Amino acid sequence: MMNSKVIKDLTQEPEEKAFTYLKKVCGFSQEDNRVYLRFADRTIMLEVISANIIRVLMSQEKCLDLSTSPAVVKKRDNFQDYELSDLGNYLEIKTDNLRLSINLQEYQLKFFDKRGHLINSDQVGKALGYWKDEIIARKVLQSGERFYGLGEKTGFLDKRGRKYTMWNTDVFEPHVESTDPLYVSVPFLLSLNAGRSYGIFFDNTYKTHFDLGFRNQQEYSFWAEGGKMDYYFIMGPEIKEVLFHYTELTGRIPLPPKWALGHHQSRYSYYPQEKVLDLADEFRKRDIPCDAIHLDIHYLNGYRVFTWDESRFPQPEEMLRILNKRGFKVVTIINPGVKKDPEYNIYIQGIKNHYFCKYLDGQVYVGEVWPGDCVFPDFTRKEVRVWWGDLHKQLLDLGVKGIWNDMNEPAVFNENSTMDLAVIHENDGDWGTHRRYHNIYALLECQASYEGMRRHGEERPFILSRAGFAGIQRYAALWTGDNRSFWEHLKLTIPMLLNMGLSGLPFVGSDIGGFTGDSNGQLLTRWYQMAVFMPFFRNHCSIDGVSQEPWAFGKEYEDIIRNYIKLRYRLIEYIYNLFYQSSRNGLPVIRPLFLEYPDDEKTYNISDQFLLGSDMMIAPICQPDQNKRMVYLPAGNWINFWDNEQIRGNSYIIADAPLGSIPVYIRSGSIIPLVMPDKYIRNENGYVLILNIYLDQDIEQGDYSYYLDDGLSFKYEKGEYNLIDFSYHWLGENIEFIIDYKKTGYHLRPDYFQLRFINLNRKVRAVEIDGNQIEEVNGVLKDDLLLKCTYGTKKVGIYLERGGV
Ligand code: GLC
Repeated sequence: MMNSKVIKDLTQEPEEKAFTYLKKVCGFSQEDNRVYLRFADRTIMLEVISANIIRVLMSQEKCLDLSTSPAVVKKRDNFQDYELSDLGNYLEIKTDNLRLSINLQEYQLKFFDKRGHLINSDQVGKALGYWKDEIIARKVLQSGERFYGLGEKTGFLDKRGRKYTMWNTDVFEPHVESTDPLYVSVPFLLSLNAGRSYGIFFDNTYKTHFDLGFRNQQEYSFWAEGGKMDYYFIMGPEIKEVLFHYTELTGRIPLPPKWALGHHQSRYSYYPQEKVLDLADEFRKRDIPCDAIHLDIHYLNGYRVFTWDESRFPQPEEMLRILNKRGFKVVTIINPGVKKDPEYNIYIQGIKNHYFCKYLDGQVYVGEVWPGDCVFPDFTRKEVRVWWGDLHKQLLDLGVKGIWNDMNEPAVFNENSTMDLAVIHENDGDWGTHRRYHNIYALLECQASYEGMRRHGEERPFILSRAGFAGIQRYAALWTGDNRSFWEHLKLTIPMLLNMGLSGLPFVGSDIGGFTGDSNGQLLTRWYQMAVFMPFFRNHCSIDGVSQEPWAFGKEYEDIIRNYIKLRYRLIEYIYNLFYQSSRNGLPVIRPLFLEYPDDEKTYNISDQFLLGSDMMIAPICQPDQNKRMVYLPAGNWINFWDNEQIRGNSYIIADAPLGSIPVYIRSGSIIPLVMPDKYIRNENGYVLILNIYLDQDIEQGDYSYYLDDGLSFKYEKGEYNLIDFSYHWLGENIEFIIDYKKTGYHLRPDYFQLRFINLNRKVRAVEIDGNQIEEVNGVLKDDLLLKCTYGTKKVGIYLERGGV
């Protein structure tokens, strides 16, 4: 955090470099799912990974190195379902979902979707180039083409016209539009043009760059300062398909423990232990739900990782026992830098076993972080990952539930903000300098923590990381680092998190209230109102900022914040189910509007609204003293979440937003599950699942699929879960509501369902539950109908009178 120096990219622009470009293909051959193109001094391999994914790999000099970075989990599985045709001057590769045309006279790839639309093409004559250690790909930038993804970047949603660098960097300030790079690198680009989409994943761990029409409006390019030209072209053309396939390649989020989706409270730092216990009491006393408390670096003995400061925390085990009993899980911070101290056992172990990063001559690298001089584990080695992972056992045994991996770019307090680039990583035999491995340091550290926690505990690990690379979703949630208590940063969070979601990272959030600087009541309230709908939900603040717990600025704000935090807990089943879906299909939990409305170009750069899942639209307030704002509602009808008023979409509206509320709309026709808010997330029997069914005269039917498990263990992998499908459809004047118990057998389940038919707008003649007519129908039979049915109910018939009320 101390290092405020942003690494400036001092390298030359590609235009100034004498790249050699591949020209004429001298010959080609085919082997299984690979097509090799030979050039005068290079070879290209086109690997058909699946019907939607083609890998493009250029050799370095004469050797073709097929290895991938650890981001890639889907390896060659000998996909055979493609055809290669020799058309004279062209070759053609055809799968069920794409056609790739390869110009043999002057190397150029053109990708077409299965309907024959040209989706992407290389710049002819300078498609792929190399110069010294560097490699570059240049592609045609189509008019109307927009870019998203790229992990954690500032600025608006659409990245066209800008350029970005991938180099994990600790940036204390400022997080503004020109600040690049930040902590996380995901070299994945998502393109959208007139509803059609593709992705490019540039699998290169060196410092990489993307120019998205910054220099030249007809071209975009990506290049690396070393390593291989190795990229994956991912065909949609549906945008959701691209995300599905990208996350097939780099992995999807495993189901998190459900409590991790609750409210987290943090600050730099809560100590001593009485203060932590008082903080916990305060939440319960004030009836503000909270699931997790984070311990920042002051719990450590002189900032030595995996230790406790015994004067501040004399009985950590007892403290953790009390907190766990009250429903609080403790997340402890761990930094990769190990204090250089010959009397500290972790330093001793690491030195004795040669676990720390060294220079080529064998000297251990030393850099300054919080504890002073530190050494850094070489996470590229499996043995080191196992050692580090095993160190987590003592924390788990004490009762710690989550690990917060900070400063893992890795951050070092020096000119470059990181390790000396000449430091060597052994990578189990494939040695390389820090220049090569820097960007995956955090990924491998989190892998070590995750695997260690899995080895030594029964519960699903919760890991929060600051840095990462593509694939980090397999191990950790991310937060956006050291933001500030600025309104601008509240606003910036939206497109930043949306693009992270589009980069395969669904579990993301920002420090609520802002990390550095002093927050205030209004800012904190507005931030909470937005963050309850975001995947990771943590209030965190810096060492010298004013307190910003939910009650810090007085009752008026506290009351509003409490209501919103409770709303988070009311929505917890909906949110958990979005994580479940994401673990299966790679779609983000929060979504830009265009993900659901890809044909509506008006949505392509909306950076101040988002969808939670596909059915809830949130329009945060990002300015002080603003109590109205414009909201865009895409086609279809929308329902105001607060008063159930129906609004026609494809329109811009002015929405009211007094301090107590922000605009939230539900997609008409959808079903949203709610539960009663609890103090913390319990996973116990005896709850009521409330289903809000938002009826719409134009929509014939709707459905919702509900997944539930213990929210904590891996037993779901052995089939311990239930899956219930709810659906309704209109049958003439009547409604039939069906509950289909798709998978049962898991013992936890709701006691009963409360069905709330919203905007019924008819008088009810009769209601039947599983064929039995019920006498009394709860609620006024006007706009809404409220019904209670026990678990096991299969069918509800609602018979309505003709005409509206
Ligand atoms: C870094 C983290 C911040 C943390 C601080 C002290 O700045 O980004 O969240 O509070 O270090 O550990």
